Amino acid sequence: MTSMAQIELEHVDKHYGQFHALKDINLTIPKGSFVALVGPSGCGKSTLLRSLAGLESISGGTMKIAGERMNGVPPRRRDVAMVFQSYALYPHMTVRENLTYSMRLNRRPKEECEKAAKDVAAITGLDELLDRYPRQLSGGQRQRVAMGRAIIRDPKAFLFDEPLSNLDAALRVHMRKEIRSLHDRLRATSVYVTHDQVEAMTMADHVVVLRDGIIEQQGAPLELYDHPANRFVAGFIGSPAMNFIDAAVSETGDAIVLEGLDAVLPIDRRLQPGRQVKAGLRPEHLRLGAPENSSIRLEIAVVEFTGAASYLSSATDPELTIFHAGRVEVKSGEVVGVSIAPELVHLFDPVTEERILAQSGSE
Ligand SMILES: Nc1ncnc2c1ncn2[C@@H]1O[C@H](COP(=O)(O)OP(=O)(O)O)[C@@H](O)[C@H]1O
Ligand SMILES: [Mg+2]
Repeated sequence: MTSMAQIELEHVDKHYGQFHALKDINLTIPKGSFVALVGPSGCGKSTLLRSLAGLESISGGTMKIAGERMNGVPPRRRDVAMVFQSYALYPHMTVRENLTYSMRLNRRPKEECEKAAKDVAAITGLDELLDRYPRQLSGGQRQRVAMGRAIIRDPKAFLFDEPLSNLDAALRVHMRKEIRSLHDRLRATSVYVTHDQVEAMTMADHVVVLRDGIIEQQGAPLELYDHPANRFVAGFIGSPAMNFIDAAVSETGDAIVLEGLDAVLPIDRRLQPGRQVKAGLRPEHLRLGAPENSSIRLEIAVVEFTGAASYLSSATDPELTIFHAGRVEVKSGEVVGVSIAPELVHLFDPVTEERILAQSGSE
């Protein structure tokens, strides 16, 4: 695979009539990278992907593939491959025929088709299955055929639109790894759309979080997790989701007072005393301890065990969720102590919802 290319979007806008679906999208997808577009349903992910493929025209801005302006270029001349959910296979064709469909359309010689089918089958692990029909394949095998059909075209980029959403949970986890390892071998420029933040975080080198047609933040997966730019990204990335609590900066400026919980948490920066903030505490950063030695005391309402981990929900208002790796001896109705390292307390402006940086700007 040598024809992979960089993709650039500059000030891309898309209107559907009055509806503004994409708003000033600026994004560079480096050659050979795996980029995930993630966000809630309706945020514009498919619109962005379909615009890249040329299936939608954009209303403004510039879109480039391999440095070449793509505005107005028809889909078949863009040389990108869309990978759909597995059911997009032709049911009356064998795996071999499905794989070579585009080549046969282009009247490639039979031997060339056969060689390409064998090569792609070897890459995707379909060697033994070339003569089967889609109905004779498992969900995962069908997904591999869908991938293989894209690979055989040797496109400039792969575009995935929620390809795993029809598969059951276990197969989804398996295919996630399979697609990623295929990417590691082919180094194909890949744009992967999903509403599932875990899928985005685990598969991509670079994650782009979209909301209402706007890029809220983009960066390496752990960069988004560690330094969410705003409350939306903070709540969207991470599972179970971050706890949010209204708070006010203490008189000393180096702690916050949590509303409704009668608790004071030290913070690692100095802020204006009395300033209202929204505190964000990740469930996995809350540490259980003796109530008398902890900053927060919580009555626990529900304890859930998955075997490997425990999830505790407090009976307080606001409710807090605590994730504990391993088992706990806590029962419903019990009061526990909880603390958190000052540098792990996220702070957001309650009005703008932007992350509050240290006043020294040292963050
Ligand atoms: N052809 C269309 N005409 C009008 N509105 C559309 C059309 N396609 C999508 N939309 C709207 O644009 C928004 C983004 O849609 P889409 O890109 O499909 O979202 P996602 O893939 O993130 O779920 C949604 O509000 C959707 O209703
Ligand atoms: Mg979609």
